[in-house]
Parts: sequence; C-alpha cells; structure tokens
Amino acid sequence: MKFKKMAALAACGALAASLALFGCSSGQSSEQQGGSEPAAEEASYSLINEGKLTIATSPDFPPFENLEGEEYVGFDIDLGKAIAEQLGLEAEFTTIQFDGIVPAIQAGGQADVGISGITVDPERAESVDFTDPYYIADQSVAVMKGGDVTADNAAEALNAEGVIIAVQSGTTGETFAQENFPNATVQPYGNATDCFAAMQAGQANAVCMDMAVVDQMVSDAYTDAEVVLTEATGEEYAVAVSKDNAGLTEAINEAIKALEEDGTIEALTAQWLG
Ligand code: ARG
Repeated sequence: MKFKKMAALAACGALAASLALFGCSSGQSSEQQGGSEPAAEEASYSLINEGKLTIATSPDFPPFENLEGEEYVGFDIDLGKAIAEQLGLEAEFTTIQFDGIVPAIQAGGQADVGISGITVDPERAESVDFTDPYYIADQSVAVMKGGDVTADNAAEALNAEGVIIAVQSGTTGETFAQENFPNATVQPYGNATDCFAAMQAGQANAVCMDMAVVDQMVSDAYTDAEVVLTEATGEEYAVAVSKDNAGLTEAINEAIKALEEDGTIEALTAQWLG
C-alpha cells in the first residue's frame, strides 16, 4: 500500500529525461553507511530545490515542532535535519497549517515532504505515501484544574451536551474527540496552541490532542491545566511524501533505518521526550 517503489523509480527516470524541471538526484545515504541493499543505490527522486530537502511543518506542536523566535525547534526538526544529512541535503523548513500539509504534499511544489507529527492513517495514505514510522503516539485530554471534570469522571463528564472540546483541525485528536465524546461539541482550531489558549480563556472546557504535546503544554505553558484522560491509540508518526516521488520515500526509509541503527532516533527521543 505505502511504497510503489519500482514503478515510481522508473517513472522518475523517464520523466527526468524529458523534463528539465524534474531533476532526479541520487540518494547518497547508502554508500556512506555501507552494507545496505543495492536497490537503494539506484534510488532517485525529485526535489523542489536542488540540494535541499524542503520540509513542511506546523510549528505549534512542542516537543515535536515549535518556533523559538524565527527558529524551528523540536524532535521532528532534528529528525528532519538528520534525514536530510543522510541524503547529503540541507533541511529547509516551511510553515504550513497542519490540515494543509497532506494536501500540499499531494499537490506538490511547496515542499518535498511533511514532517509534523503526522499520524499514518488510511485516508491520508490515499493522498500521500508514508515512510516507515519513527514514533508511536497516544491521545490525551486536558482541562483547567479545579473544574467539574476530573480524572475519575472524565470519560463521562466530557461526553455531555454543552461541553466544548478544543482540537486542532484535521488531526487525529479531532477524530478521537468526535468518536469518543459524541454528545460534546468538538471545536476545531487551526493551531494547536490556540486550543490551549481558548481553554484558558474559558472558550473551551477541554483540549484533546497527542499525549506528548498535551504533557509538554501542561508542564511548560499551561500549568493551571491538567491531564484527566489518556488513551493508548498507538498512532504511528511518519514522513509524508508525494506519491509521485517514491524514490524519496525509499531514500528516507533508508535514512530512518540508519538513524535507528546508529542510535540517533533514540538520542532524539531521550532529548525531546525523555
Ligand atoms: N498526530 C496528529 C495527527 O496526525 C496531530 C499532529 C499535529 N501536528 C502538528 N504539528 N500540529 O493528526
């Protein structure tokens, strides 16, 4: 389902011969690491800017992606840089609101890949290809401390008419809230941080999103909020790549494998999620 390697590699070669814009460049990772499958040496792919891996991200989701001033920071940012390095490329980040990332990768022209805590799901996989997963995530719900919803009654208390649950538009948190709290009003916001701001301002009663992000928001920025419910959804984060660029999916899979084997992913997990 995910990887149509051979067909797309062939297509890339054919197109490269006829289209100057469609530059197929060679993946360089396999030679540096040695011992990889020979198929990877032929992996070729197109890039919107030569020498650069242009990465779409929605930097509102610490510890995965966030902005410190102008600078992109977080687990996904370091991962994107490490993947680019494996490919002999420079990582360049571009901000796209989360619900626009998959459509942008599908449409092409704005970014080569999306790295933004994107959960692999069958619907998205109709629009883009996903690499192998690099992280497993769960869902959590936070509320302001001292209210009616507590860890003991959350499952019921959240599923009540009049309860407003803030979610980031187009996320698995939105789907999770709709499915598990059908009596509540699920209110989408474009930006994950806006969800917390809305709750703090009293415009929403709860926020539902990926556990590590809720944990970080609650411990860093919204210390007057608390987690009342966590569900092990076991979502897999992966890099989103255009279906027309299967050679890039292949090359990034090789890179992820190398970064797993050399301990980079473990070190990033300890650094950002430890
Ligand atoms: N994992 C969730 C999803 O795929 C949320 C990701 C939100 N990412 C972000 N950078 N805001 O729907």
